Formats: sequence, structure tokens, C-alpha cells
Amino acid sequence: MRNFRVPLLITTPIYYANAAPHLGSAYTTIAADVLARHWRNQKRRVFSLTGTDEHGQKVADAAKQAGVDPQAFVDQQAKVFKTAFQGLNVGFDRFIRTTEPDHLKGVEFFLNQLKKAQTPKKRPAIYKGIYQGWYCQGCEKFLTEKELVEGKCPLHQTAPQYLTEENYFFRLSDYLPQIRKAISQNKLKIFPSTARQETLGYFKQGVQDFSISRQKVDWGVPLPFDKRQTAYVWVDALPNYLTGVGYGQGRRYRNWWRGEVVHFMARDILKFHAIYWPALLLAVGEPMPYTIVAHGFFTVEGKKMSKSLGNVILPKEAIAKFGVDGTRYLLLSACPFGQDGDLSMVRFLEKYNADLANGLGNLASRTTNMLERYLVGRVSLGQPPKPLLRANQHIENFDFFRALQEIWKTITWANQAIDKVQPWELAKKQDKTSQAKLKKFLSELAAQLLEIAKAIKPFMPEAGKRIEASLHAESIKKIPPLFIRAV
Ligand code: MSP
Repeated sequence: MRNFRVPLLITTPIYYANAAPHLGSAYTTIAADVLARHWRNQKRRVFSLTGTDEHGQKVADAAKQAGVDPQAFVDQQAKVFKTAFQGLNVGFDRFIRTTEPDHLKGVEFFLNQLKKAQTPKKRPAIYKGIYQGWYCQGCEKFLTEKELVEGKCPLHQTAPQYLTEENYFFRLSDYLPQIRKAISQNKLKIFPSTARQETLGYFKQGVQDFSISRQKVDWGVPLPFDKRQTAYVWVDALPNYLTGVGYGQGRRYRNWWRGEVVHFMARDILKFHAIYWPALLLAVGEPMPYTIVAHGFFTVEGKKMSKSLGNVILPKEAIAKFGVDGTRYLLLSACPFGQDGDLSMVRFLEKYNADLANGLGNLASRTTNMLERYLVGRVSLGQPPKPLLRANQHIENFDFFRALQEIWKTITWANQAIDKVQPWELAKKQDKTSQAKLKKFLSELAAQLLEIAKAIKPFMPEAGKRIEASLHAESIKKIPPLFIRAV
């Protein structure tokens, strides 16, 4: 049972500033926003955090290519992300950037704590070692020989570089038993269960210590204890979840970090969040029990989303066609949460017309129209015939797809009920029984529509609000079309 009084920190990954936001990053951010809105509507204290990951070689190279210095480049990119997310009606409490002074200070503090840390086996958590291996810049990580496919990174289709350098390492191996136990006992919760299984699988394959610094990457945070090296971009990025709420600047961050913490992401970065991050937290003496929610990876019309393939769908293109609410709905209903999915503008169009223009839109305008015409807008709302409690439970269990399915079952049921009852026929009859039947049906329908509006609000804040407002009015007026058929 969840304690609603515990404050809730909801995070998305911080996105690499070298690329533009696309429907993949939009999906994660909207899912996090749906959870945040759901809890805020229940008056729970929520802090939602998103932002940009602005250091590392990949970003420095992108800046070079654009012919500007890295800081100017990331300033520009951060604006692009922020605007894109605001355009999707995502209400974050903080948009964190890893080049911000308070983050830099927090990371330095974090690194110093790490340097001082002793592992459970009473060994220093940080040691110096030589790294040799294949480094993929796209992933910003070393790949093992086994992971390469025909000598290339399978994700980026590029040949990795062979690097040899002296780095500082984190003794991850000493923390693994504790983390594995926490996952097995569900103290560290991972949703959905497929992602949990995947994480437990990593332990079987074996997880190595990892280097926390780079010698040759200038665009990064210098290690406070050895300024010739910069922090590995992940060791700079992961602590954003702490610095974003004030870590390194007094105890304020504890309000959030001792509460419930939910990290959203796609499966590509599960290992970093489910194994590396808890170990780093244990080392610096912060509690680690929290929840990880990992959704699947999306392709567009069967292909990996990539600039070079030219199949990236920008959030603003989807918004231009389907509106903000429409885009949010289409993304979260595209596939079962946690599974990989394929996005296609053609399918979006069909679904938009079927579920939104015909389904919800039609229900809202028909219902309010009949209330205005037949009951002169005056109705007392009772209990909805089909309460949507289960949809709320699905949201709380991070199953957004099923929550929407549940709501849409009810929308379909309500539209069918109208067709079956034919209130316009009842309205023609003047006898008392028909009039009473009409009034009862329409007031139940209005209550049901209000219930639907409340349930869709986290997903489609504007549509939800408009329906609610129209039903709260003294006299209900026909609501103008919420979703205009798209072609
Ligand atoms: N900067 C790191 C994360 C650091 S978090 C401390 C990073 N950035 S990223 O820009 O590559 O973003 C990865 C995340 O973006 C994924 O985990 C996912 O949330 C989202 N997605 C990016 N492409 C996606 C798809 N094609 N499909 C689904 N989600 C995608 O990794």
C-alpha cells in the first residue's frame, strides 16, 4: 500500500544535447508527466525533473560540427528541448542542465564522497587502473568484443575506437550482491516485470567495474582530486537526480530523496539505472530503494529512428496534425507499456480519427448537446454507472496503456448506450415515463462523461479540463468539437 503523504520525485533521463528531441524522448517525458499529473490531481506532493545531458565527447563533436563553442551549442540545444517539452504540455518542476553551476558543484561533492568511500569489503570504492577496450562514442561506453557485430556497435552501426588510458575505476563488483538482493526482494522495484528479468539477467552475464573518468575528454567536469581527468559522462549525468533537488547545498534534497523516487527511461539505459546508479548511491551513503520504470524502444515504420535515415518524427509535426492532447494520447496508446513498438503517421491518423474524433470527441459533443437541448442544461450528477477506479490503479502501476484501454472501453460503452437508448426518440414522446427515462439516462451519461474527463486529465489535460468545465456549469452548453477529424 502506498503512503500518499510521502513526497514523490519523478524523473526522466536527461537527454543528450547533441540531438534534437523526437517522439522517443517525448514518450518518456509524457509518461513521467502523466504520473506527475495523476498524483498532483490527488494533492500529493510531487517534484518532476527532466533536462539535458550536456557534457562528453559526443556533444563536443556536435558543437564542433555546428561551428560553435560547446557552451553556446548546449545553451541553444537546451532551449530546443525545453520548448519541445513545454509544447507537449509537460509541467516539469525543474529542467536541469549538467552545465549549470549548482549541478557542477553537486557533482564535485558527489565525486569527493566517492573518493572517500569504502566498499562493503572495506576497500576503497575508487582505484586507478588501465583501461583498454573498444569505446563507442554514440553509446558513450566501452563495448565488449561479444557485443560487437562485424566489428561495429550494433546500435550505432559505427566502428568503435580502441582506447588505452589510465582512469579511475569504481569498484562496482563489491556492491553487486547487495543490489541483486534488493532487486530480488523488490526493495528496488523495476517495472515492468520484463525489465526486472532483464536486469537480473545482467548479473548472470557478469558486470564489471567501470571507469569513472576520461583522460582525453575536455568537455566535462574535472575530477576534484585529479584535474587532469574529467568525470565520465554517466557519473556526471546520474547525480542530476540528486542535484536537481538541491544535493550538495544542504539538506533540502532529503525531502525528496528520502521519499518515493521513480526513474523513467527506455530499456537502453536500464543497466546504468538499475545497477550502476544504486551502487554509486550506496557508496556515497544515500538510500537506494526506488522504482525504475523502463519502457520499450520505438522504431518508425519499422526502422530505427535516426537523423541519417530521415525518419525522425518531430514532436511539433505530430502536434501540427493531432494537437497537443492528440499527440500525448497517440504516443501512450501506441503499444503496451514496456514493449518495443513501431510508430507510424498512417496508424496515428487512423487511431486519431477512430478514438479521438469519433470516440471521445463524439461522446462529449453528443452528450452535452443532448443535455442542452432536452434538459435545458440542468442536471444533477449522480454516480457514474462505470467508475474508472481501475484506470487509476493502472496509472499508479505505471501501466499507461492499460489505463487508456480501460477508459476507452467505457467511452465505447457510453457511445453504444446512446445509440441503443436513442434519447432523441424519447424526447419526442411527451408521456411521463419517457421523460423520466430520458432524464435518468442523460444525468447518468453526464456523470459518466465527467468520470471520463477526470480519468483522461493526466493524459490529455486540455480536453479533460474543457469537458469538466462544461459539465460544471450552471447550464450545460454543447461543447465545441474537441478533436477535428484529421486527413
Ligand atoms: N544522456 C543519457 C541519459 C542520462 S540519464 C542520467 C541518454 N540520453 S539519450 O538522449 O540517449 O536518451 C535516452 C532516452 O531517450 C531513452 O532511455 C528513452 O527514454 C528516450 N529515447 C530515445 N530514443 C528512443 C526511442 N527510439 N524509443 C524510445 N525511447 C527513446 O541516454
